[in-house]
Amino acid sequence: MILRGDPAGPLAAPAALSGGSMRVWRVWVVPVASLFAIWGCTSPIALVGSVEPATVTPAVLARPAPAPAVSPGLGPGAIRSHWARDDLPVSPRARRIDCERIRCVALTFDDGPGAYTEPLLDILAGYGARATFFVVGRMAFGDGESTLRRMVAEGHELGNHTWDHPQLPLLSQSAIREELGRTQWLVKRATGVTMILMRPPYGLTDSRVAAESRQLGLAQILWNVDTLDWRDQDPSIVARRATEAGPGSIVLMHDIHRSTVQAVPRLLDEFAARGYRFVTLSELYGGRPAPGRKYYGGP
Ligand code: NI
Repeated sequence: MILRGDPAGPLAAPAALSGGSMRVWRVWVVPVASLFAIWGCTSPIALVGSVEPATVTPAVLARPAPAPAVSPGLGPGAIRSHWARDDLPVSPRARRIDCERIRCVALTFDDGPGAYTEPLLDILAGYGARATFFVVGRMAFGDGESTLRRMVAEGHELGNHTWDHPQLPLLSQSAIREELGRTQWLVKRATGVTMILMRPPYGLTDSRVAAESRQLGLAQILWNVDTLDWRDQDPSIVARRATEAGPGSIVLMHDIHRSTVQAVPRLLDEFAARGYRFVTLSELYGGRPAPGRKYYGGP
C-alpha cells in the first residue's frame, strides 16, 4: 500500500500513559489547561473518563490546537476542547436489513482517508449505498478527521486498520495494543464513535492480535472477495472482480486509489441490477459481531 506523508511526525515514538501515570496527568492537567491550550485531553468529558483514550502520547498532547473556548454551561473555568464539541456527527437511523433473506454485499475500503475518499463518498451518497471504511490512524489524523465525521453522518461504518499499517504479528503485544488503541482513540475523539471492527493490515493476524482485538471490543474482519485494486489500477478490472461476489460477501478495496473510486459507479450499477443491497458489516451480521472473532464473509 501507499501511505501519504505522515502528518503526525513525531508520533513514531509512542509512550503510553496509563494507570498511575494517567492519574498524575489528570492532577496536573486541570491547572495547566486553564493556562495553556493543550490539545485533546482537557474537556470535562475527558476528566470524568468517559472518552479517555486507551493510549495517549505526549507528542499528541503537545500538538498545537485551536484555542479552546470557555463554555459557561460547563462550570467555572471549564474548557471546551474539541472533545466536548457539539458538532460531532449524528448517524442516520439504523436500518433493519435481513441479509439472511435478501442479497447483501459489504463493500469495504481500506487505508484511507485519502485524496479520493470524499469523491467516493459523493458517489456512495448518490446511490444511497453504505460501506465500511477501515481507516489508518495516521492517514486520518488532522485533515482527515472531517472526512471521518462525514462518513459517520452518511451512515457508513468505521473500522480500525491500525495507526501505521504494520504487520501486526511481527510486533510485541504492547505495540499491537498501541497500534489499535491509538486509532481507536482518534476516531472516538473525531467522531464520538467507538469502533467495533478491525481489519489487520495485509490480513495478517495471530492469537495475540485476536486477544488485543477482543480486549478492545473489536471483531476481526477479513474478506472473501479481493479486487487486487492496489495491483491492477484499472476500473474495469476492479469492477469485474468486485462483482464476482455472492450474497453475504465482504469485498476488499482501497479508497486511496483513483482507479478504485472510478470503478465504484459501475460495480454499484451491476450489483443493483442483480438486486443487491449495500450494507455495513454490522448490518451484514445483524448487530454486533463478536469481539476477537474472525469474519470472512461469503455466501
Ligand atoms: Ni491496508
